[in-house]
Amino acid sequence: MKDLQHYMRPGTLQLGALPPLSLYVHLPWCLRKCPYCDFNSHEMKPGELPEQRYLDAVIADLEQSLPLVWGRGVHSIFIGGGTPSLFSPDGIERLLSDIRTLMPLQPGCEITLEANPGTFETDRFRAFREAGVTRLSVGVQSFNDAHLKALGRVHDRAQAIAACEEAQAAFDTFNLDLMYALPGQTLAQLEADVTQALALAPPHLSIYHLTLEPNTYFAKFPPEVPPEDTAYAMLDRITEMTQATGLQRYEVSAYAKPGHRCWHNLNYWQFGDYLGIGAGAHGKLSFAHRVVRQVRYRDPKLYMDHALAGDAVAQEEEVARADLPFEYMLNALRLREGFSLREFTERTGLPANAIGQALLEAEAKGLVTRGLDRVQPTERGFDFLSDLQSLFLPG
Ligand SMILES: C[S@@+](CC[C@H](N)C(=O)[O-])C[C@H]1O[C@@H](n2cnc3c(N)ncnc32)[C@H](O)[C@@H]1O
Ligand code: SF4
Repeated sequence: MKDLQHYMRPGTLQLGALPPLSLYVHLPWCLRKCPYCDFNSHEMKPGELPEQRYLDAVIADLEQSLPLVWGRGVHSIFIGGGTPSLFSPDGIERLLSDIRTLMPLQPGCEITLEANPGTFETDRFRAFREAGVTRLSVGVQSFNDAHLKALGRVHDRAQAIAACEEAQAAFDTFNLDLMYALPGQTLAQLEADVTQALALAPPHLSIYHLTLEPNTYFAKFPPEVPPEDTAYAMLDRITEMTQATGLQRYEVSAYAKPGHRCWHNLNYWQFGDYLGIGAGAHGKLSFAHRVVRQVRYRDPKLYMDHALAGDAVAQEEEVARADLPFEYMLNALRLREGFSLREFTERTGLPANAIGQALLEAEAKGLVTRGLDRVQPTERGFDFLSDLQSLFLPG
């Protein structure tokens, strides 16, 4: 890693203050690879997980990264994957206590762990809570056994319900992940999934349109998914049904009760900073005159070897000044509340007039509304989000 002087040298951006800092930790293994998944996750038999060595590597990675975030408190931690709940509660406890030794955590720091219902055992979730996790994110995807099977999930409906009930009982807040527009799914089946999810009263719900990602089994052997107009009708039903139970759609795919928004994801969408450690993890860090992106080695074994040898970062680049408006909009316009011009300037180090022309165009097309300082996507802007975002591409 380059020394700190390199990051602090003069540049064309002027960031008045650094944004809040989050920490992302990637744990890259799953019991079985789902056919739709393009995340950096690899199959592993439960007894063969190299838990200790991997945690050693992650902590070595963190130690090497500290000079870049010196003195900054951590507002949230997200332990994602892969299937982090495959790790033992003792392992998670060790990870969190090592993080606490190395970095100051802000009071009330949100600590999320992703859990798969296939790894659910009654005492396990409570033990994660004891280890310091404050929020569980449960990957349910569907409550329909036939759809779960088609998605290659390792759990069934009963396990999904049991996992959510335990998350509800053991944590003050939790998230439930669903996907829609599944192979062969009808509108009535989607309604049944959402009804079941809402019956479990999750304070936070994330609902994603199933996408057939390149380099997945589904890309090679595409299943038949509902046509686009059915998928739109599904999203409309999701919006109506969630609203009726007091969940607010605060981001394109995220719905929350008041006080239960995911702080960590909000920080991404507000173009905050995050240090990403673990195999293939992405990070974004700001300095007085530049914004830097990093990616760690993707293959778990290669990552462990490199991190333990003191060089976990596979790629690093400065975000070009011309790319910053679009990168900012990729995040901020996903939020129902949009952003303020002051925040734009604070986070990108660019003057507001850098997006003046694009904003005029977006407003003329009815894709955003503008108040004194605030810019918000309209309903139409939300529906045609990628068109709206592309107005901010470099000219
Ligand atoms: C990184 S995954 C981790 C969650 C956990 N491993 C699990 O699957 O239970 C986070 C979420 O992304 C969503 N997801 C993954 N692949 C997707 C795809 N191809 N299309 C839409 N959503 C996807 C799923 O809802 C999943 O729960
Ligand atoms: S369990 Fe989650 S991370 Fe693992 S393969 Fe399936 S969707 Fe991907």
